[in-house]
Amino acid sequence: MGATLSVEHLAHLEHGRGRGVAYGRTLAVSALRPASDCVIHAAMSDRRFYVTTPIYYVNARPHLGHLYTTLLADALARHYRQRGFETFFLTGTDEHGLNIERAAAERSVKEHVDAIVTEFKATFAAFGLEPDDWIRTTDPAHIQGAQALWRRVRDRGYIYKGYYEGWYCSSCNEFKDEAAPGEAPICDIHQRPTERVAEESYFFKLSAFRDRLLAFYEAQPAFIQPDARRNEVVSFVSANLRDLSVSRVSVKWGIPVPDDPAHTMYVWFDALSNYITALGFGNDARTGFDKFWPHALHLVGKDILRFHAVYWPAFLMAAELPPPRRIFSHGMWLSGGRKMSKTPDASGRSNAIDLGMLRRHFSNDVVRYFCLREMAYGQDGDFTYEALIDRANGDLASGFGNLASRTLTLIRKAFDGAVPNAPLDAPPDAREAAAAIAERFAAQQAAFLAHIERLALSRALESAWELVALLDKHLSDTAPWKLTGDPEARPRLATILHTAAEGLRHLTAWLYPFLPEATTALWSRLGLPGRPAQVAPESLSWQRFENAVVSDGPALFPRLDKTAIMNDIKATTPPVAAPPASAATPAAAEATAASETGYITIDDFAKVELRVGQVLEAERVPKADKLLRLQVDVGEATPRQILAGIAQHYAPETLIGRKIIVVTNLAPRKLRGLESNGMLLAASVGEQGRPVIATFAEDVANGARLK
Ligand code: MSP
Repeated sequence: MGATLSVEHLAHLEHGRGRGVAYGRTLAVSALRPASDCVIHAAMSDRRFYVTTPIYYVNARPHLGHLYTTLLADALARHYRQRGFETFFLTGTDEHGLNIERAAAERSVKEHVDAIVTEFKATFAAFGLEPDDWIRTTDPAHIQGAQALWRRVRDRGYIYKGYYEGWYCSSCNEFKDEAAPGEAPICDIHQRPTERVAEESYFFKLSAFRDRLLAFYEAQPAFIQPDARRNEVVSFVSANLRDLSVSRVSVKWGIPVPDDPAHTMYVWFDALSNYITALGFGNDARTGFDKFWPHALHLVGKDILRFHAVYWPAFLMAAELPPPRRIFSHGMWLSGGRKMSKTPDASGRSNAIDLGMLRRHFSNDVVRYFCLREMAYGQDGDFTYEALIDRANGDLASGFGNLASRTLTLIRKAFDGAVPNAPLDAPPDAREAAAAIAERFAAQQAAFLAHIERLALSRALESAWELVALLDKHLSDTAPWKLTGDPEARPRLATILHTAAEGLRHLTAWLYPFLPEATTALWSRLGLPGRPAQVAPESLSWQRFENAVVSDGPALFPRLDKTAIMNDIKATTPPVAAPPASAATPAAAEATAASETGYITIDDFAKVELRVGQVLEAERVPKADKLLRLQVDVGEATPRQILAGIAQHYAPETLIGRKIIVVTNLAPRKLRGLESNGMLLAASVGEQGRPVIATFAEDVANGARLK
């Protein structure tokens, strides 16, 4: 093994040029992957970009918070790819822990997580997001890597065995301070009581890293962004760094602690290591650690900054591995001023924005633009459908979209579609105006790129839209539509339209990461070769068009009918935010009033189809302890197959002939490869939730509806 890089040394390494040389020269890498000869190369290119999202918990379905971070990463990855950076964009799922074990209900936990992961992947794909890889913490390669990290930390003396007694929030996966002696604190994030944990535990010597972390933050002021968040982290570390419990004996659904499988790893130790296991750390199934790790940018919500900015660098320091390059903490999407969360509130409802609703009414580009424009640098954003529609109609339809359509129409009318160049004999005032616009674009290009570099994407969009306004004003001031019939005005007209087309070309390339679908379409309508995905914004200069002929197409951003969309949204979902003062329809008003009180309307109830069924056949499902497979006559031509998680409480033969109540209009779903076409009703009794099947005292016909 070569000489090792000390943590103090790491803390003082310069990011950027030369950094790789330092790593390559001094870091002992033979222990990075137990069974391989991974080498961190001395010659690292700065033109690499590794962006990660948090890995998402799979105890619930994807929501806007998940979509947002992934979208941010996707836009950045597209931008850096466009500029020729070797780019790696990682996302994935965090699949261990108590909450996930509990969320699985009657399915096996693995089946549950597989189903949710499939939904996450499909959702992200439907929104046009294109990660390079998807890490799952149940991947064998990840498990191997997380265990390798544990061993490195343990072997360096930073993990010891002890006893933990305290309070745990299974949604945050975090221990919380006691409210008063012996009193369970309420988790301030999830508004739920915490649970008592008293068990043997391994501890990570976090307290030993206080000074090293502080020195590191000081040496790398850009490590945590924005600055305000960095200051919070510095005060937390200065004040309060206790050793961290990093294993559980009472949680079975987790990665076994190496050499002591009675313990599973604390989920955050497991989860954070994904950022390096996905690059082949500690396993041979993946690669890229040496290439990408030094360029890592972690995007995280501010609620999980501490895990990334304190625990993660401390784990890495303990393992004598380099820290990531940057951590950017974005704000939260609020809904009516409250944090959007998949966790149900006191009335049992989630206030998360429904991604299905977004897909139904809005194009991917509209959703991307709104999210990236509306969440200002490091601040929270408030999500309302109204604001989304206003931005789509204002900035996109009337702004960029209208500028494009005006320009293309004029070029078609005046020049048969051939994009004109600015002729030398154009009048001086026209040439001067064109030159001024070209200069403004050149200056703004630097600002646009700088905003992206510091991850202020909202500011980058603002600066691009200043140019949309500039071109719009130029067209309004010069009124080219008045010149189309005048042969003498042709040089002036050509100059104006060349400027508009050239400005559009620039904006189309710049905006590709934000609006990939619309800009790709516009690029080809401008008659340009290739795709904007391949054009580096900094490579653009003001130039002549060579044989570009514009083509026609549908509106890039069709105008949205606000009233119709809002009515549909209100009629089909309970409001997620504080209800509007006046609801648009009587039905919506009733739904609004009902949901405010926690009641449902009779229409809500009528949506659930409950029917009398009779069990014709019942048998156990092989290799599934909890499941019974039933054939149930619900008054239809053929019996339905229903899977029920009652096998531990009912012998199959005792159910034959029994009348039960079945929910008959639930979407079919697959369990253990078998389709279930309905759900039987049962009371859930006692702490263990023992099922007791609902039935009838009198005889009733199969298929009769309960209402
Ligand atoms: N599994 C952990 C992360 C482990 S990373 C090693 C986790 N998962 S999560 O699914 O609960 O949240 C993932 C991300 O979604 C976090 O960055 C969180 O900030 C983000 N969001 C969740 N709700 C959000 C909003 N309402 N708005 C914006 N982002 C939010 O934490």
